[in-house]
Amino acid sequence: MAIRKIRVIGDPCLEKKCKPVVKITDGTRILIEDMFDTMYEAQGVGLAAPQVGILRRICVVDIRDEEPIVLINPELIESSGEQTDQEGCLSVPGKSAEVTRPDYVKVKSLDIDMNEVIYEGEGLKARAILHEMDHLDGILYGERANEPYHDLEEDEEYEEMEE
Ligand code: NI
Repeated sequence: MAIRKIRVIGDPCLEKKCKPVVKITDGTRILIEDMFDTMYEAQGVGLAAPQVGILRRICVVDIRDEEPIVLINPELIESSGEQTDQEGCLSVPGKSAEVTRPDYVKVKSLDIDMNEVIYEGEGLKARAILHEMDHLDGILYGERANEPYHDLEEDEEYEEMEE
């Protein structure tokens, strides 16, 4: 178990398209454990490998109300609806902006044993999955936002929503 350093906006790792995972090694398993540890310690609801400097298509999501999930080489296969809400990112600390995204997603992914799995999500889970998948293509939420990044107010508890 280890907490990894979270890269912040301006770091080139956050702008790169990540490569697919071709094999699960001990290193991959440790990376995934560390990603969970790092996400929980930062009180985020999701984290993508490039945020800890690893340019592979892996992300973790835990919105707390449902089982945590690991996405490996995820592909969006269906989306519908629309939701608009404030979003944050552990790699853009202290900021927030309004983003409109689909309200429902279905994704195809690999699990830790490289078996194909399907995950569905609605609301915050859908938002978190899409936000993390964007990181794998070097996209930060600001590129999709309806407004510029703004500072979080002291009384706004968005920390728990940071992805
Ligand atoms: Ni993020």
